[in-house]
Amino acid sequence: MAALSVRELSLRFGGVDALAQVSLEVPDRSLFAVIGPNGAGKTSFFNCLTGYYRPTGGSVLFDGRDITRLGAADVAALGIRRTFQNVRVFPKLSARENVLAGAHLRASASVLGTLFGTPAHRRGERELAEEADRWLDFVGLADKAAVLAGDLPYGVRKRLEVARALIAHPAMLLLDEPAAGVSSVEREELASVIRRTAADGVTVVMIEHDVELVMQLAAGVAVLDRGRLLVQGSPEAVRADPRVVEAYLGRRQR
Ligand SMILES: Nc1ncnc2c1ncn2[C@@H]1O[C@H](COP(=O)(O)OP(=O)(O)OP(=O)(O)O)[C@@H](O)[C@H]1O
Ligand SMILES: [Mg+2]
Repeated sequence: MAALSVRELSLRFGGVDALAQVSLEVPDRSLFAVIGPNGAGKTSFFNCLTGYYRPTGGSVLFDGRDITRLGAADVAALGIRRTFQNVRVFPKLSARENVLAGAHLRASASVLGTLFGTPAHRRGERELAEEADRWLDFVGLADKAAVLAGDLPYGVRKRLEVARALIAHPAMLLLDEPAAGVSSVEREELASVIRRTAADGVTVVMIEHDVELVMQLAAGVAVLDRGRLLVQGSPEAVRADPRVVEAYLGRRQR
């Protein structure tokens, strides 16, 4: 069964078709990539999936359920988490606190416990902080727990965002250009984090300009160009497709 089933998704901004009748399916527990030139509609696609934008046409099914009209908080509560192209961490909070912020939509917190500060609640808080540290360790930032996010280099903040998404135990994780602006060492760490996340059974969809990283990680690739789905297939098939070479790889190589 498809984790994500997108049917004729469209999004118009004035005269611009950011997305024009895009249909695609992402298999459950797969690692899927969306590529395409600048302005192709990739981020708009994520924004429509996650309730940040309201599509002007078409539908989005997650696990068979229609989520097209849900807002961002409701989409998150269903187990879809994302990172942003322009990292959005809380600069004045520590790395650990940033990760903890990702847990707040999880259903486990007891409202009464929060109000009255019961021992069970305090234990819950402590366990959550320990879990935050485990996710920091997962993304290779165990030694950065107490560092203010604003003091971390850009590439490190990108991994911090991934930890913040993962503490919510998402069923699907959407990564918007996770490797953009990260160093080559960080890129390898990031690839490992993405691979291990998918191996844990999380459906991962990544937007990425780093074609080598996509070829290395993704089982399926969709190519967007000017809001349209140009090609979809295996990394090898997509890379060899003349339309892709023209629309994306060709232009970038010039
Ligand atoms: N909020 C908005 N208002 C108006 N136009 C928008 C808005 N968001 C996106 N667009 C337009 O939609 C098109 C697709 O933009 P989008 O950001 O989705 O592309 P992208 O593939 O993510 O590009 P990049 O690789 O540069 O991140 C562009 O023409 C863009 O200008
Ligand atoms: Mg984008």
